[in-house]
Amino acid sequence: MGSGIAEVAAASGHRVVVRSRSQAAADSVLTRVGRSLDRQVEKGNRSQAERDEILSRLSVTTELKHLADCDLVIESVVEDLAVKLELFAELHLVCGEGTLLATNTSTLPVVELAMATGRPEKVCGIHFFNPATVMSLVEVVSPITASAETVASAGEFARACGKDVVVVEDRAGFVVNALLFPYLNNAVQLLERGVASKEGIDAAMVGGCGFPMGPFALLDLVGLDTSVAILDALYEEHREPQYAAAPMLRRMVAAEHLGRKTSRGFYEYERR
Ligand SMILES: NC(=O)c1ccc[n+]([C@@H]2O[C@H](COP(=O)([O-])OP(=O)(O)OC[C@H]3O[C@@H](n4cnc5c(N)ncnc54)[C@H](O)[C@@H]3O)[C@@H](O)[C@H]2O)c1
Repeated sequence: MGSGIAEVAAASGHRVVVRSRSQAAADSVLTRVGRSLDRQVEKGNRSQAERDEILSRLSVTTELKHLADCDLVIESVVEDLAVKLELFAELHLVCGEGTLLATNTSTLPVVELAMATGRPEKVCGIHFFNPATVMSLVEVVSPITASAETVASAGEFARACGKDVVVVEDRAGFVVNALLFPYLNNAVQLLERGVASKEGIDAAMVGGCGFPMGPFALLDLVGLDTSVAILDALYEEHREPQYAAAPMLRRMVAAEHLGRKTSRGFYEYERR
């Protein structure tokens, strides 16, 4: 998600600094965004000059302190509350007083991230969808600690990125994932019960509901580890059986069949 968000922001005219933990990961962000822009040039959707200009607005670093002068920082690390809490506490220490801190979390309580900083009024969620370059929605998540200015600025940023904004309360899953994940989880349960093959279930939802892809193709795109983390956060907050991750999902995560990111999930993919 990180490189997709960086591309969207740079393509809409923002200067973007991406911080990764290793130089190799940082370089791979530049490679990914470069490849994505190359495809757009090949398709005739962008000129070569535009491509070069967008890339020139994007830089990478391994140092958190290089984010100090940013107006807005969007965190998009692994969906793990402990990791995010530590990062928000550090971000507060390194970033200038005026910097807004946002999270791309799909489900975790934004208020807890806000309270890990000394600036809870300047923290909110800016939730992009996968792939960030294609999907038109951004959920702006408003924890009870955020000021009206913070929520308004987050919405302005997302709209400047060409996105449609829905402002949502800080509840696990917000709108989209609270509705989507019971469906994805149910699809896995149907497969476990042998009601149809994964190909059959995918074809049924594409052909019968007009969805652009079936639930297993979508789970592979989201990532099975991220999907289990999302279901766990939903279950933790709502305690409803519809959010209890299907056992097959957990077994696949244990086996590192995580979807596209490991080239194997419900389906197999070419190595990235
Ligand atoms: N996958 C999706 O479809 C999707 C959609 C919307 C939002 N999100 C959210 O975006 C965030 C990232 O999800 P993803 O699917 O890109 O996950 P991912 O597992 O593909 O990538 C997470 C990245 O975070 C890095 N990371 C872990 N700890 C870090 C740290 N302390 N500092 C810097 N980097 C660190 C990992 O090395 C990895 O590159 C999560 O909060 C997730 O809920 C995901």
